[in-house]
Amino acid sequence: MMHEDVTEVLFDEQQIAACVRSLGARISADYAGEKVLLVTVLKGAFIFMADLSRAITNDIEIDFMAVSSYGAEARSSGVVRIIKDLNASIEGRHILIVEDILDSGLTLKYLIKNLRSRRPLSVEVVTLLLKEGKQETDIQCKYVGLICPDEFVVGYGLDYAESYRNLPYIGILNPKAYS
Ligand code: IMP
Ligand code: MG
Repeated sequence: MMHEDVTEVLFDEQQIAACVRSLGARISADYAGEKVLLVTVLKGAFIFMADLSRAITNDIEIDFMAVSSYGAEARSSGVVRIIKDLNASIEGRHILIVEDILDSGLTLKYLIKNLRSRRPLSVEVVTLLLKEGKQETDIQCKYVGLICPDEFVVGYGLDYAESYRNLPYIGILNPKAYS
């Protein structure tokens, strides 16, 4: 059943699950024998993290960060605020940032710079979605799940003004819902 504010389902549950499984397999192989800390960017990546972590067969740890770049608007302001920081030091550790969606890239650019300054062994990024052609800054994102069109999307953790996160699929939000 499609939500009445969603105009089109871009990725259904099966497509997302297949994508998460393949990302998990790649990450498991790449970090074989190493312990990696998954840094989840709240709130949008919480469902992705829950599924991705179970698709990784290695010994992992999980921590959370919350940043705000959007407020209740549908586009990036470029201003990033840390709302919740990591619980522990990441010095000397392999870090994998888990993001929901890479749009302008401004949020991630800030996060990578911030985490690098804490002297980890490595910092890589896995994003479930990449909005094609939207990146205003060049970001090395090692793992990209699904390419999505330049539309405002919701579901599977992604919100608009805190709603729609619980939709099991990823869909395009009707512009009428935010204009
Ligand atoms: P960026 O800084 O423009 O790359 O925006 C990244 C963050 O904005 C993501 O982590 C999301 O939380 C949010 N975001 C960007 N595009 C969308 C969208 O289409 N739907 C919901 N949230 C989005
Ligand atoms: Mg958001």
